[in-house]
Amino acid sequence: MLPHPGSNCDNFSGRRRGRVRWRAGTVRRVIDRRKLAAGLTLERQVYATNRPRSEAAASVGAAHLIASVPMTWMAKWAGGFPLYLAEARGNRVTDIDGHTYVDFALGDTGAMAGHSPAPTVDAIRRQVETVGGITAMLPTDDAAWVAEELSGRFGMPFWSFALSATDANRWALRLARAVTGRPMVASFAYGYHGTVDETFVVRDDTGATVARVGNVGPAVPPAQTTRALEWNDLASVEAALAPGDVAVVITEPALTNIGIVLPEPGFLDGLREICDRTGTLLLIDETHTLSAGPGGCTQAWGLRPDIVTLGKSFAGGIPIGAYGLSNDVAVRLHDLVVSTDADIVDVGGVGGTLAGNALSLAAARATLADVFTAEAFEHMIALATRFTAGVQDTLDRHDLPWSVVQLGARAEYRFARPAPRTGTESAAAGDDEVEEYLHLALANRGILLTPFHNMALMCPETSVADVDLHTEVFAAIVGAVCT
Ligand SMILES: Cc1ncc(COP(=O)(O)O)c(C=O)c1O
Repeated sequence: MLPHPGSNCDNFSGRRRGRVRWRAGTVRRVIDRRKLAAGLTLERQVYATNRPRSEAAASVGAAHLIASVPMTWMAKWAGGFPLYLAEARGNRVTDIDGHTYVDFALGDTGAMAGHSPAPTVDAIRRQVETVGGITAMLPTDDAAWVAEELSGRFGMPFWSFALSATDANRWALRLARAVTGRPMVASFAYGYHGTVDETFVVRDDTGATVARVGNVGPAVPPAQTTRALEWNDLASVEAALAPGDVAVVITEPALTNIGIVLPEPGFLDGLREICDRTGTLLLIDETHTLSAGPGGCTQAWGLRPDIVTLGKSFAGGIPIGAYGLSNDVAVRLHDLVVSTDADIVDVGGVGGTLAGNALSLAAARATLADVFTAEAFEHMIALATRFTAGVQDTLDRHDLPWSVVQLGARAEYRFARPAPRTGTESAAAGDDEVEEYLHLALANRGILLTPFHNMALMCPETSVADVDLHTEVFAAIVGAVCT
């Protein structure tokens, strides 16, 4: 990301989540780099000129906030300073300079249910104002309802709650190591599962596991805990699991944090088969891929995980995470805790004071019951299909060597054609300059994309007109920088 002069975010707005400098040769042939540079300069000027209040707020924030923002990821914003939020409803966000945007970023999936969905807001009000009790370290009925609902959707009969997908993954990895008695974890290169130490791995040219660039303060070199796998490469899975010391493979059912990289036919079946043969558990992280339908890819594709993790969106934006265990894993866990000193009810490293609180479960119940319905997903997925077709149309018109990939209610364009097959290929297809131009040009025309990538997500309130606006603007801004 190129810095915006004078912004305090500059020092912090480096590459993240696999954003690598331009390497692929294909883009340059059709994107006119001089037009792109001129377009980028102009879009930066327009962005800054029209948002004096956000820029001023960012410089006030610089006094006492690390990276000028409440959480350092918020520094990752094209234009050098983030938009400051005035209000958000449905799929519309308004900044403090008075600009309203069609929001396809949706809080990087945290707001996939739309901003402040009415059923969730009602449930939050009821819990806070009428019932009383935000967090009491006491269970409420909502927990059993939500667990039963998640069981129906994902097939895992036993659930526990966290406050983030990161924590759900961390705790699930601990449980997997505990029940298998194995020390290692396997994770796909350029997969992302939150700030989970074990997963910041990639493969070097020889296939050896190495830390991902930018890894901050690792407790140990991650190769000591993890074997890095390559997506869509069953040989890499065979090799990593063959020694029999891997407790669990943690993966999304499609990579969604390095563009969207879908599994090739047979890949997930092969992964399951190797896990079965080597006695390795399979953890499917559905935090983003819940976009595939009410039960994520697990339901939509008939997957057979041993553990499912979730987070971000299913309490309508109120912090929550969850992990579900298969019957077999739950029985093994039960046997372990009754026969050893493994401690899951106090200070054994699984759990958190505010996890499973009354408020987040009330919000999850309402969101699952009344917002994330089968009909809502049907609507969202149809819109993502329309979005994808609109983007493809522009790519075809200019014969651009880019690709667009859809996964249920989300779609993402990537600067490579054919679409990358692996995380490593997809990382190599990054192009910071094009990406900043697209994000700024869209924002200047009233559209937000997820700042970490080129992802567009539909929520129940997204409309055909919103998608068509993107199609029209995308065609114009891409056309303006093509040769
Ligand atoms: C697949 C996946 N799992 C887990 C996480 C972690 O979510 P959180 O940062 O809300 O803990 C993310 C975040 O992007 C994610 O994409």
